[in-house]
Amino acid sequence: MARVLIIDDDPAMAQVMSALCAEIGHTVVVYSSTSKALNLLSSHSPQLVIAQCNAGNAGELEVLKVCRASLPHVPVILLTGNKSVPEAVAAMRAGAADYLLKPFHMGDLKEAIQRALSDAQSPYPDPSARVREGHGFENIIGSSARMQNIFELIGKVARTDSTILISGESGTGKELVARALHFNSGRRSLPFVAINCSALPENLLESELFGHKKGSFTGAVQDKVGLFEEAEGGTIFLDEINSMAALLQTKLLRVLQERVIRRVGENRNIPIHVRVLAASNEPLFKKMKAGGFREDLYYRLAVIPLEVPPLRERREDIPLLVEHFLQKHTLFGNSNRPAALDQRTMQALCSYSWPGNVRELENAVERACALCENGVVQLGDLPPHVVTSEPLSVTGAVPHSPIYATTSLPQTSLPIGRPLSEFIAAQERRFIEETIRANRGVRERAAQVLGISSATLYRKLDAASMPPIQKVADSL
Ligand SMILES: Nc1ncnc2c1ncn2[C@@H]1O[C@H](COP(=O)(O)OP(=O)(O)O)[C@@H](O)[C@H]1O
Ligand SMILES: [Mg+2]
Repeated sequence: MARVLIIDDDPAMAQVMSALCAEIGHTVVVYSSTSKALNLLSSHSPQLVIAQCNAGNAGELEVLKVCRASLPHVPVILLTGNKSVPEAVAAMRAGAADYLLKPFHMGDLKEAIQRALSDAQSPYPDPSARVREGHGFENIIGSSARMQNIFELIGKVARTDSTILISGESGTGKELVARALHFNSGRRSLPFVAINCSALPENLLESELFGHKKGSFTGAVQDKVGLFEEAEGGTIFLDEINSMAALLQTKLLRVLQERVIRRVGENRNIPIHVRVLAASNEPLFKKMKAGGFREDLYYRLAVIPLEVPPLRERREDIPLLVEHFLQKHTLFGNSNRPAALDQRTMQALCSYSWPGNVRELENAVERACALCENGVVQLGDLPPHVVTSEPLSVTGAVPHSPIYATTSLPQTSLPIGRPLSEFIAAQERRFIEETIRANRGVRERAAQVLGISSATLYRKLDAASMPPIQKVADSL
């Protein structure tokens, strides 16, 4: 049994629909006035809304927008006499659970009601679930403590409407974080609109964000709806906000304060209900302090600051990322298996400094997957500068990183005079132990990352099969 709210100004129609709902076991509240129904929406806490929308009315999707914004998990079935396909598509994109053209059979409505209610109980409670797949946390890889903190923060703040400033170098995954925030929020079935503020000159960016009126400047050949309006009810992601020109910063501040926009060339205020996420690829606080960014806008944006660390400061994430990208970019031969990676190659990937962060790592792995033979990625398949670069100093950001230590041992402290087998065994053991640690103690996963079987991993860890690590370490 569900609580159904019906909004229809045709009493006969409303009565037939109420009878149908009652017949299939639901309780019903009927309103003939849309505005009244919308005002009292939350107090009824309906589980389904059936609303007629008037053809030709400019605010046709208003009911839907208001319902999605205040009751994001409640399905909405729209009824319309307007036989236009674009309207139906727009309604579905805006999150309608269904869209029925009048006149319709009561059997169709019954099916639509049952479908909408059962979808609402499924793990994907809204029709954009398929679109949403792949935008949540599960696609952000990272076992490092710093990434775990980020996941925790996303979990805490995704459902709020707070403005969030995501900072981090280019390629660290800021957009991925922004998407995770949106797709874990109540706005998930409404649009996520991203724009790179450095990609357009100031005047074009303004009309892109806020829209313009036909003839308001050369080239404005027709009215244009801006991205803030397109994102209505959802989230707008202002990427590289640090490059926004001063005048536009002032206009954006006004939008954030007053929650209205004005199209270029118009005086009319248009209310917006959009969550704002912004990203900066340079420390914005510093830039603001140096006078390069409006202070008031900074504090409006950075209600919750979230910093994504560069990859070189969380090297323990590299093996998992590599594994993820191998799976993403290869299907080897007919076996449908991702390519494997030999240990030396993983070591090289783990010791490179990755100035382009995860994006650069992904490109390198994708390239290697395309070049590799027999399904095994080897050193020669990596970009040459990755292989030949100087390993970072051992005093770098992650002193505990094993891989790091292995490749950056100062030449002078090599245990000259000791047997080679002993040295290799000790290094191997350290590498294995740290990989296990990076995989939170899951040995099977560590074995997978290392490209060896679990049995081999256990054998190699067996103390009897290699000299105790301390012995070699002492002699280093
Ligand atoms: N933690 C991560 N896990 C998986 N893929 C990632 C991660 N971080 C970044 N990527 C990938 O790297 C690329 C760059 O990420 P993006 O979010 O665009 O970075 P930024 O916005 O910081 O420049 C994208 O292809 C993204 O999918
Ligand atoms: Mg980006």
